[in-house]
Amino acid sequence: MTGALGLDADEVRGVLVAAGLAPSLNNAQPWRFRVERDRIEVHADPARRLPATDPDDRELRLACGAALFGIRLALRAHGIRPLVTLLPGPEYPGALAVVRRGGSQALDDRTRALIAAMPARRTNREPFRDAPVPVAHRQALVHAAERERSWLHVVTDRDERALVHRLVAKAHGVQAADPAVRAEMAAWTADGGVRDEWVLRDSHAAERPPGEDHGSAPLTVVLSSFYDGPQAGLQSGQALQRVLLTATALGLAASFLSQPIEVRPVRDELRRALGGGLVPQAVLRVGFGSPVPPAPRRPVEDLLCDTGLSTRP
Ligand SMILES: Cc1cc2nc3c(=O)[nH]c(=O)nc-3n(C[C@H](O)[C@H](O)[C@H](O)COP(=O)(O)O)c2cc1C
Repeated sequence: MTGALGLDADEVRGVLVAAGLAPSLNNAQPWRFRVERDRIEVHADPARRLPATDPDDRELRLACGAALFGIRLALRAHGIRPLVTLLPGPEYPGALAVVRRGGSQALDDRTRALIAAMPARRTNREPFRDAPVPVAHRQALVHAAERERSWLHVVTDRDERALVHRLVAKAHGVQAADPAVRAEMAAWTADGGVRDEWVLRDSHAAERPPGEDHGSAPLTVVLSSFYDGPQAGLQSGQALQRVLLTATALGLAASFLSQPIEVRPVRDELRRALGGGLVPQAVLRVGFGSPVPPAPRRPVEDLLCDTGLSTRP
């Protein structure tokens, strides 16, 4: 491993480890990095695409954007101001993003809290506790998305929540009938049943009696971009990770309801339900969760582009 951006090899390794803590659909970890003296490039790992579940690489770009946010934070921990170019063009073949050194920047308390949250963040895998999310926490999550030029819609209306969860169930039905999606999930996840279990549990949550909606536990939120396309996906991935880390720093946990994002006609329905202008990128539930063990991560050596500098002799 070489040094980069003024960091030595061990520090660069730490930056890549931090990036690799990002969430990804089926924990596929579909990112790779190229390290050069003056930059770190983020690439997709084509061997880790999920063509049946994510045919347009939409969620792959979300995950790579989340990993990019990890690089940004890890550089901030070293006092470096990261300078990011999304989709930098043919000069950097295949790169989704390039990160350079944009000078020095002192660490503020909020960023420090996000850095501390990186190793602690987990996707919640147990029922949420029945404790409402305080309004101030909700506002912090919305603000986190705004900081990354994205929009976090908090579903507080009972009918709207029921609609979102109907769309989850509908998309789940489509995917459950698709052997390619089922095979992909079985191949990538240890138990293959995590999503099914969550869909049912969350659909039941939509049937709660009225009166529980305001500050209900957990919240249903939709992260959206203002436009569509690969750049919006990378932007939303950074927003996703900022929202998730903000949640972690506040003692909250989140889980994903990705089915209505993955099934295109259902995504269109969700988009129309949100007013048509915004592009839904992720549906999350956020609340107070239970401790979850860390999901396995790839060793740093496997995260380097083949054609890039290698840690191997
Ligand atoms: C774009 C995206 C979509 C995801 N969709 C789901 C999902 O539908 N169901 C689920 O249980 N987890 C989903 N996850 C969470 C991943 O399974 C999780 O990030 C991965 O297993 C690593 O675990 P961790 O987040 O606890 O580190 C998704 C994550 C991302 C980034």
